[in-house]
Amino acid sequence: MTNFAVIGAQWGDEGKGKVVDILARRFDYVIRYQGGHNAGHSVVFQGERFALHVMPSGVFNEKAVNVIANGVVVDPFQLVKEIEGLRNRGVELTPDNLKISNRMHLILPYHGIIDRHREGVGSRKIGTTGRGIGPAYEWKAARRGLRMCDVFHPEYFKAAVAAELESLNNRFSEIEELRAWGLKEMMAKLQPVLDILKPHVVDSVELLSAARAEGASLLFEGAQATLLDIDFGTYPYVTSSNSCAVGISAGAGVPPSTVDEVVGICKAYTTRVGEGPFPTELHDETGEALRKAGFEFGTTTGRPRRCGWLDLVALNYTHQLNGFSTVAIMKLDVLDELPEVKVCKAYRLNGEEITHFPASPVDLNAVEPVYETLPGWQEPTTHIRTYEELPEKVKAYIDYIEKYVGCPIGLISVGPDREQTVIRDRRLKDD
Ligand code: GDP
Ligand code: IMO
Ligand code: MG
Repeated sequence: MTNFAVIGAQWGDEGKGKVVDILARRFDYVIRYQGGHNAGHSVVFQGERFALHVMPSGVFNEKAVNVIANGVVVDPFQLVKEIEGLRNRGVELTPDNLKISNRMHLILPYHGIIDRHREGVGSRKIGTTGRGIGPAYEWKAARRGLRMCDVFHPEYFKAAVAAELESLNNRFSEIEELRAWGLKEMMAKLQPVLDILKPHVVDSVELLSAARAEGASLLFEGAQATLLDIDFGTYPYVTSSNSCAVGISAGAGVPPSTVDEVVGICKAYTTRVGEGPFPTELHDETGEALRKAGFEFGTTTGRPRRCGWLDLVALNYTHQLNGFSTVAIMKLDVLDELPEVKVCKAYRLNGEEITHFPASPVDLNAVEPVYETLPGWQEPTTHIRTYEELPEKVKAYIDYIEKYVGCPIGLISVGPDREQTVIRDRRLKDD
């Protein structure tokens, strides 16, 4: 079977949830493999809107088994809340269709407290979601994290939590909030939620290996996006995991050769939440118009998203990293009313034109975008379902992006609903 990955090509919130939901219909497994509930993936159908955080976006498909793999960091309180929220809205989640890896690291209350504290002091604010993601990955790398498999050994688990709480009080004595968590309170709060999750826990290496051997099809759902990747993003203004395709093998425990096709998800413009360089950011009325038309407010934190033109230098870089088989251009409809549409085709840095994406945040803050201006189409596209029906000016815009990046554009999204989608690439179609 052909296995797919869906990867964000910008700074997140491109519409990955929508595309995973559409594709999930024909996959046996949908797998989240990195990040945590910093993600907010929206799925809209039949007049209902769902925001998923750590739950794979395949949950609305009755056939798919949803897997939260080892590379994800999970706050057990949040996961239980998310499961219950979905169940209350009629989504059936059972140990048969929701599997959690036993190697997955837990986000515990102190991770969130430390994350929020750090954001509030000092000058190196990242603008995190405050969900404890960074500290949980720090704990993992420092070999002091707690994993789901530890929950099945209560004495070991309790002793490790006790040791952590003790060392926290020494290492972070300035954070008063941490002192509120004694071992007893922690265990009393944790135990009931961990008990709810236990029936879902599996060895996901075994599970996915057996699935592959049987010829099952796998869909890997990236969270965050390539420019937020810990290694390749706009460091230090990134998240703490490998959020581009390079993270799949380590994050899901599958051989690197598992992924056949990588679908890059890219908005027709650009947004970013939190701090950090953003070469094509618009601080004018066009930026405001994009925010308003695209309803650009964070799915997880509600923060207004920074908006700007599509950056092809950045898209080209994310294509280099992920090797997109096809790119989905999302939220095309948001540009419908604009008289002209710009795309960034190069950067000017120290008087020179460059087309590579600089590593340094100093350089990224200094670059000036060089734009190509294309005519706007100034007509609605939200009702369109086939490529042929799209205005000629949209086709010219799509053509320009395809030629620049050297990658086909296989899907064009013209509204938040499942149905508001133009699928051009046969590989993305149901049969
Ligand atoms: P994700 O994190 O990549 O899954 O993206 P988010 O769900 O955080 O943000 C994308 C937002 O855009 C959500 O509110 C979607 O419902 C919405 N959306 C997705 N595709 C389209 C589209 O083609 N047009 C419009 N107007 N909205 C869209
Ligand atoms: P989805 O999957 C957009 C950003 C935060 C911050 C940085 C680090 O919905 O696209 P973190 O809490 O991860 O330590 O914050 O990363 N960020 C996202 N931005 N979409 C996301 O997820 C994000 N997840 C994290 O705003 O700048
Ligand atoms: Mg999002």
